[in-house]
Amino acid sequence: MARITAGVATSHVPAIGAALDNGRADEPYWRPVFAGYEASKRWIAEHKPDVIILVYNDHASAFSLELIPTFAIGCAEEFQPADEGWGPRPVPPVKGHPELAWHMAERLILDEFDMTIVNKMDVDHGLTVPLSLMFGQPAEWPCRVIPLAVNVVQYPPPTGNRCYRLGQAIRRAVEAFPEDLKVVVFGTGGMSHQLQGPRAGLINSAFDRDFLDRLVGDPVAQSKVPHLDYVREAGSEGIELVMWLIMRGALDEQVREVHRFYHVPASNTAVGHLILENAG
Ligand code: DHB
Ligand code: FE
Repeated sequence: MARITAGVATSHVPAIGAALDNGRADEPYWRPVFAGYEASKRWIAEHKPDVIILVYNDHASAFSLELIPTFAIGCAEEFQPADEGWGPRPVPPVKGHPELAWHMAERLILDEFDMTIVNKMDVDHGLTVPLSLMFGQPAEWPCRVIPLAVNVVQYPPPTGNRCYRLGQAIRRAVEAFPEDLKVVVFGTGGMSHQLQGPRAGLINSAFDRDFLDRLVGDPVAQSKVPHLDYVREAGSEGIELVMWLIMRGALDEQVREVHRFYHVPASNTAVGHLILENAG
């Protein structure tokens, strides 16, 4: 049986990818950001997942206003890094896990979560930056990755409650897969940031720290928090945080927090990061 052993949450700031790709990770501005992931790289090298289910959002790279799936699952063999305007990031292609992804699509849809099935898709910084933070710069990513894209760009995004319940359904789907696979779920994006309008540059560390505590200790209460609270308190792009609830819903209600990191600023964003292990 496949099983979910742990969850990882992390911001996906594109400038982090650019810092790494352009050899600037050791500069004074970036060093403390990458330092917060040193323990995480050791943890994931020891933990060795077979598959990562990577919950992320596309930023009008693969999708656009012409096509806006609320939840989409990547079922392809391979996903190329997207060209976001400066050419594709020089990172390896992402190898999928079509058997598990198709199984998940079937189980989730029959469980009444209407996933969009995607057989061709480039993946942007929302997916590749979390991989870079956790694995550094390998010649190949060390495990399979199933991209699970969530619309948090065009109103209305899914509710926190819907995201949390999707996480629970992902767990049921994974546990119904017969092959022995160790699966880690990533929830990405956030934390507080706003890239546009008069409040551009907004950071709210009090909200972020409270979110981290509640995501770990009282996820059900956090799943009830409405969109407006995120947007008002964490900025228009802070709504990306609902994706962390999908990761959290896929774990036990009680989890072991193995690592936490919080740092301001990275580009326009408060960087937050958690590693949570299932206790059982
Ligand atoms: C930034 C953060 C994001 O989440 C994003 O998608 C783009 C830019 C930033 O902080 O610059
Ligand atoms: Fe983003």
